[in-house]
Amino acid sequence: MKIGTLTGGGDCPGLNAVIRAVVRTNANRGGTTLGFLEGWRGVISGEHIELTVEATDDIISRGGTILGSSRTNPFKDDESVARVLATIESVELDALIAIGGDDTLGVAHQLNAQHGVPTIGIPKTIDNDLSSTDVTFGFDTSINVVMEAVDRLRTTAESHRRVMVIETMGRHAGWITCFAGVSTAADYILVPEEAPDIDRMCNLLKERREAGKMYGIVIVSEGVTLPEANGFITRDTEIDEFGHVKLGGIGDIIAELIETRTGIETRVVTLGHLQRGGAPSAYDRVLGTRLGVHAARLAHDGQFGQMVSLRGTRITSVMLADAVGELRVLEAEFMDEAGEFFT
Ligand code: F6P
Repeated sequence: MKIGTLTGGGDCPGLNAVIRAVVRTNANRGGTTLGFLEGWRGVISGEHIELTVEATDDIISRGGTILGSSRTNPFKDDESVARVLATIESVELDALIAIGGDDTLGVAHQLNAQHGVPTIGIPKTIDNDLSSTDVTFGFDTSINVVMEAVDRLRTTAESHRRVMVIETMGRHAGWITCFAGVSTAADYILVPEEAPDIDRMCNLLKERREAGKMYGIVIVSEGVTLPEANGFITRDTEIDEFGHVKLGGIGDIIAELIETRTGIETRVVTLGHLQRGGAPSAYDRVLGTRLGVHAARLAHDGQFGQMVSLRGTRITSVMLADAVGELRVLEAEFMDEAGEFFT
């Protein structure tokens, strides 16, 4: 069986573990695997490399993706779709495994549903915001990066009796912020799922200072909006081929509000792509491996139009049609538990 694979959207630690597992599982059954370069852009252009067991054996510990990635959307025009179909035919693919988030997997779904392409999806994102899977690989490494950064920022905040505001990624879901907030004993978190209560946050910071805690940690998601800001805070007006804006800047606004309203000296750190970089955690290496194994097995079993997913501790699969298009926001029970510490 000739399987093609690609990595699309924002990169994250664990992608190479997935690639390695797809290659090995397919090879164990006599198959060959092609890696398309830079997400869907490589399938449009036909640019690909052969992925061998030997060449991928030690990539499990490497961050990012050896194939490169992009936010290319073939469905932005008919010619690109036609070129995708022509590539698949010319290299005689028996299956195409797309590793990505909602946008990348949405393309895999459309190719299968509209053109009968034998696609399989593997969910990926540091945002952990994909419905139909309990956890996405990339998320664990990302929250550990944020945790380590906040642990460092705590010491300088303490030394200077300051409040530190940390802006995290996560797009329109607060998973990274909530898990990082709990794991670092932050004083307050702001997530897109809850309207920010600036007064409550400032009063809490003042009360804790009066009680003797001479520094503060506030973690805010990039997707948080403020009524007076009239929508998402973005760094510029550019949008990508899937219509996403470039979020960023809310941390500066929150820091300014805190300093103005409390009189406490405040600084802000935007972690940005640090949350996407570096070597994957053991958890993400294993989860990525398991997903890759099951995706290649689905291909050999002829189960297309599916996405592999984690349910509890088991790897299962769902229809791609049911897995894309719906954002998985931070579930209320997590905010409820975390809320015990932010009051
Ligand atoms: O989806 C992952 C993510 O890191 C988001 O959290 C973030 O908003 C976005 O990608 C950044 O995209 P880019 O790397 O294209 O700037």
